[in-house]
Amino acid sequence: MGSSVLVTGGAGYIGSITVERLTQAGFRVVVLDDLSKGHGETVPDGVPLVVGNVGDVDLVTETLKAHEVDAVIHFAAMSLVGESMERPADYYENNVVAGARLLAAMVEAGVDKIVFSSSAGVYGEPEQVPIRESHRTEPVNVYGDTKLIFERILGWQSEMSGIEYVSLRYFNAAGATERCGEDHRPESHLIPIALEVAAGKRPELTVFGDDYDTPDGTCVRDYIDVRDLSDAHIAALAALDRGCSGIYNLGNGEGSSVLDIIEAARSVTGREIPWRVGPRREGDPARLVASSSLAEQELGWRPEHPELADMIDAAWRWVQSHPDGYAG
Ligand code: UFG
Repeated sequence: MGSSVLVTGGAGYIGSITVERLTQAGFRVVVLDDLSKGHGETVPDGVPLVVGNVGDVDLVTETLKAHEVDAVIHFAAMSLVGESMERPADYYENNVVAGARLLAAMVEAGVDKIVFSSSAGVYGEPEQVPIRESHRTEPVNVYGDTKLIFERILGWQSEMSGIEYVSLRYFNAAGATERCGEDHRPESHLIPIALEVAAGKRPELTVFGDDYDTPDGTCVRDYIDVRDLSDAHIAALAALDRGCSGIYNLGNGEGSSVLDIIEAARSVTGREIPWRVGPRREGDPARLVASSSLAEQELGWRPEHPELADMIDAAWRWVQSHPDGYAG
């Protein structure tokens, strides 16, 4: 029997694909998700789904004990940069306060390992790219700040109560598996929106600003295949078993601008993607590109699907096989 893992937010985009890959790798998995954003149908047969909030200490403690959980992978969070600037208090409540309660429940149940979904958003506007983990952290949006605060809580919790943690700073997740893909409501992410335009569901895409200090004036991001991202969690669990805590970037080390993505989506789908330039979106750094060499050295992880076209192709296949997204 593999070890037992609680996946919070396991019915969300990255969470569901991680659950899929954990079960394939022989882990026993239990999902905790309040289904505010997640989709229950992503949870595979045989994987228990506990519907509830990570901030519910009694429920989480009971779940950890009942399923004899060895480690927690904590995805559950609000994760939209733009929304975080409109609803700061909700972001601190969900991403910081509820997260701290999850740690309290872990202490109560005697669970001492956690993998945390952090973000490139902790860095803010980078001084140099590719960004290393030692780069100064000065978030320029509320979302990034909530992730940084939780990393600090993890650091102190680790020092004072002996938990081991791995914090994974994701750059921009993209792509899908055959079963699971990206279905946010409303959708705000670039690649799914480009594909909605390609599919004729939206008339056009708005490029949020073309006056950034980048080669074509649009924002540059580092897109990382969601399957690779998920596999990094399995590598992180192995590191925790060796008693290693740490903070790691997860990206490809390649920057793509908004216009690069539109062109790649046009090429993969063979469809036109009309776009126009609109104003900048609040809280967007100009360039976020990762150095993931630390994850390579210490976790033994490296991206297996580094090609942007492959990620967009996987996402496009999923969109075509799920024209209305998930049912629920
Ligand atoms: N963009 C547009 N038009 C759109 C949507 C997005 O121009 O209709 C631009 C954004 O301004 C940004 C880029 O495309 O420059 C990517 O935007 P996304 O919304 O797809 O992703 P973000 O970079 O804002 O954020 C994502 C995740 C965060 C994570 C971050 C890490 O949503 O959780 O990547 O880089 F922190």
